Amino acid sequence: MSDVNVRALGEADWQDYRSVRLAALRESPEAFVGSLEEEEAFDERIWRARMVRSQRLVAVRQGQAVGVVSIGEGQAASSEVAELFGLWVAPDYRGTGVATLLVKEAAARAREGGRRHLVYWVGTENGRAVAFASGMGFLPTDYRRPMGVVSADDGDEEIAMVLPLHEEPGPWPRL
Ligand SMILES: CC(C)(COP(=O)(O)OP(=O)(O)OC[C@H]1O[C@@H](n2cnc3c(N)ncnc32)[C@H](O)[C@@H]1OP(=O)(O)O)[C@@H](O)C(=O)NCCC(=O)NCCS
Repeated sequence: MSDVNVRALGEADWQDYRSVRLAALRESPEAFVGSLEEEEAFDERIWRARMVRSQRLVAVRQGQAVGVVSIGEGQAASSEVAELFGLWVAPDYRGTGVATLLVKEAAARAREGGRRHLVYWVGTENGRAVAFASGMGFLPTDYRRPMGVVSADDGDEEIAMVLPLHEEPGPWPRL
């Protein structure tokens, strides 16, 4: 979408992040570990800390946020691995390339920051997100973990998918 831009947010933009993050939790509660009720109660100090902890990217169209993604350290043992998380696109903008724009920008930033792999944990039942990630070049791994979402059924899992950020990215990450 040529009229959509990806904007990297800084700490001062915490209210912009809060707004799109709460919209994501409201619209897709089953996709995220955080809950709307819990995060609505966060104060400014917590939102600012979140901005510092991870890089937040928003997709903006005509001044309105239509998607969001975060890049952070994740649980990988290596500083050569970054984690992609919190990916959400507003329903009207799904299937339009907004998610692709966000993830391409996230991958470019991770690569520029010296990372060799980008890890994305995604619910194994979230067919659309898995299909999207596969289309972007993320590869399935043997790593699984419990879903962690309150609304998830017992036994629901996430799979780690990995995007190599270089032609020869080196050893597969250990998670
Ligand atoms: C996950 C998300 C960001 C992907 O963005 P999107 O714009 O929907 O993705 P795209 O349409 O570009 O790609 C989805 C792919 O899945 C396919 N697909 C569509 N509906 C599908 C479905 N119900 N099941 C499986 N695959 C589906 C599409 O054909 C497309 O494949 P293609 O690129 O080969 O055509 C978006 O759907 C979203 O915000 N979902 C809700 C929040 C969420 O689940 N976030 C992920 C948390 S880990």
